[in-house]
Amino acid sequence: MATTSEMDCYEPIERASVDELRSLQLARLREIVAYAYANVEHYRRSFDAAGATPSDLAGFEDLARFPLLAKADLRDNYPFGMFAVPRSEVVRVHASSGTTGKPTVVGYTTEDIDVWAQLMARSIYAAGGRPGDVAHVAYGYGLFTGGLGAHYGAERLGCTVVPVSGGQTERQVTLIADFEPRIILVTPSYCLNLIDEMERRGIDPVSCSLEVGIFGAEPWTDELRAEIEGRLGMDAVDIYGLSEVMGPGVAQECVETKDGPTLWEDHFYPEIIDPDTGEVLGEGAFGELVLTALTKRGQPVIRYRTRDLTRLLPGTARTMRRIQRVTGRSDDMLIVRGVNVFPSQIEAEILRVDGLTPHFQIHVDRSANLASLTVRVERDPASRRAANELGTVLADHIKGNIGVSAVVAVVEPGEVPRSAGKAQRVVPAG
Ligand code: DLL
Repeated sequence: MATTSEMDCYEPIERASVDELRSLQLARLREIVAYAYANVEHYRRSFDAAGATPSDLAGFEDLARFPLLAKADLRDNYPFGMFAVPRSEVVRVHASSGTTGKPTVVGYTTEDIDVWAQLMARSIYAAGGRPGDVAHVAYGYGLFTGGLGAHYGAERLGCTVVPVSGGQTERQVTLIADFEPRIILVTPSYCLNLIDEMERRGIDPVSCSLEVGIFGAEPWTDELRAEIEGRLGMDAVDIYGLSEVMGPGVAQECVETKDGPTLWEDHFYPEIIDPDTGEVLGEGAFGELVLTALTKRGQPVIRYRTRDLTRLLPGTARTMRRIQRVTGRSDDMLIVRGVNVFPSQIEAEILRVDGLTPHFQIHVDRSANLASLTVRVERDPASRRAANELGTVLADHIKGNIGVSAVVAVVEPGEVPRSAGKAQRVVPAG
């Protein structure tokens, strides 16, 4: 770990000792649990049902006695039932897209927006952004937290913000050429579209002005990091977050180490549970991340089940703990003939094959007795390798490294649908 005096941080709290952090976290935890109980009907009922009263919370180990919060609990209280303040004190709402049924709503007070802007500014700084930089924000603006979260943070840091949002790829490339941003904030999959468009226009991506890319909102791999860093000649770092807990900026990878996102522990308390039993696992174990927001007032979140699979790691560039890069959600996991497969594993295999691009989709057909997995992936137009040869090589890699047989369809550039935000990697059957 870097000594605290060597750490180049946005805020002094990033240099706090682990002991200082733990005592701050415990004080905040006790306060927010009592606050949630006093102000939100759902917590009152669920804590009472579990026989857990806030005054029981003497140490971190007592938190396990309190019930977990699931997305379904938020849906059941749609739209404003989880607010802890009068609606008039909620200055903003965001909502998750909600592919099934109702969306989940999140409400923020003025102070919540302030904390979020501060943590995003801290995140951009940890990624290598500095006051005075031009920041191109290509996360979607709107109910999705990506665009506005990045926007407020970049403004707070003192950047010149270009609020492009997602889409209009040709125009984005023109703006990058003209405004010369140093930082880009975008999903990794949409960044690939921007790079492709630059190449189509004869612009060499390596020579463009971008030096720092802050990528998140979807799983991506170290293989994709290498691809993007190589093609754009920049540092690519991971940002993690989720709307229910705040939005982007819950955790940010530091550019000096690039070893997984540092969780901003002064505002969030993490636990790792067994996704099947809900049991809290020991330090370092792999499982589902559960987060408690320690300072969120508009809509407190106590023990929220993120569904994201990861492990907690000791601090390196900062004293705060890191999470291992999230490569999958428990609900994204495909089980094909008894083998667990995450789309990110397929991405990693694709990027090991020279001549394939990271534009891909996965189809699982369960109509026959045995499920079959098909990967549609675009070939690199610059490669001279034949499509069937590329397909065989990828199928061999998937079989050898993941342990499942896949049908690979190598398609022409542009045939895999593009998204302006999060990529849809798994195509639903039917
Ligand atoms: O995706 C917030 C965000 C915006 C994060 C911009 C980073 C950048 P939601 O739409 O609520 O919020 O989706 C949250 O996306 O539970 C993860 O499954 C996934 N996710 C977010 N960041 C990462 C990441 C935003 N860096 C859900 N790596 C989360 C992997 C990520 N998955």
